[in-house]
Amino acid sequence: MIDILNTQDEKGPDYEPDNIKEVVNYVNAITYGLDRLESLPFSLRLIREIHQILLTNVRGSTKNPGEFRKSQNWIGPAGCTLENASFIPPSPTEMLKSMSALENFFYEDDHIPALIKIALIHAQFETIHPFLDGNGRMGRLLITFWLCQKRILTQPLLYISYYFKQNRSEYYECLNKVRFDGDWEIWIKFFLQGVAVTSDEATSSAKAILSLKKKYSEVLYNVDNGNSSYQRLLDLLFEYPIVSKKQVSELLNVSEPTGATVCNEFVKLGILVDDTPEKKRYKKYRFAEYVGILQKGTEL
Ligand SMILES: Nc1ncnc2c1ncn2[C@@H]1O[C@H](COP(=O)(O)OP(=O)(O)OP(=O)(O)O)[C@@H](O)[C@H]1O
Ligand SMILES: [Mg+2]
Repeated sequence: MIDILNTQDEKGPDYEPDNIKEVVNYVNAITYGLDRLESLPFSLRLIREIHQILLTNVRGSTKNPGEFRKSQNWIGPAGCTLENASFIPPSPTEMLKSMSALENFFYEDDHIPALIKIALIHAQFETIHPFLDGNGRMGRLLITFWLCQKRILTQPLLYISYYFKQNRSEYYECLNKVRFDGDWEIWIKFFLQGVAVTSDEATSSAKAILSLKKKYSEVLYNVDNGNSSYQRLLDLLFEYPIVSKKQVSELLNVSEPTGATVCNEFVKLGILVDDTPEKKRYKKYRFAEYVGILQKGTEL
């Protein structure tokens, strides 16, 4: 997460390009999909297009992104074989039939509440496993995507992936109970619980961000002597929470020495924390309390 915010930085020891790329791809793919809805209905074709973006240059990029599989696959722990797989999805021919039935289900006028409907779609999608790889990522993206296209979410802000990750074995177990016992209730309960927890966390993060903004606005109001660049920098830090002195001067459109002065003042006030105390040049400063709030719902 820090690495994603720190996009302008050189590579540090914790640099994990693949993790970053996956998140960047997720954002690009969902944004693309939502834009594309203007010209293409929510369909298998759109799912394939989104999948292609999702898997660009990351795990599975060599396994036909954007194309449904043409061979048998299986689900289970890493390295497992067809013999000891936890579950074997349908053959390619059956898979195509199932996907087309799923596409019909998207549009069925069944009065199923949207959250339950996407719970059903997600489980079916994972069970059908239409791609060679990236079925997990695509299936999770589908949840937020569905809620956006139903206008239940106005922005793609529900990040349920973290909940699935935190409760991975329960998540797998629930999916398998649907597959082997037809036990849909236990899956729906788990899913709805996940939506509730994720939404509550997002709400408290939003509240914490608002009160952080208020707190430092007041602090700055008392020290800035009419220096409007202080308030401006505070606003900008919510968009760019990790900055260098040079970036501060560019963002504020002031000279480098002025930018550096503002930056130092923010460090004194405890808003910015020097992230690179060992460095003399190319130092980075972090809006630590804000980054802390953002990090809470994203890392194990
Ligand atoms: N042991 C298991 N039992 C039940 N379901 C499983 C199991 N292992 C994987 N799955 C399902 O398959 C998905 C992984 O499929 P795939 O590898 O194609 O996608 P991915 O995007 O690479 O995976 P990931 O979810 O790890 O990001 C999981 O998210 C889960 O839905
Ligand atoms: Mg995979």
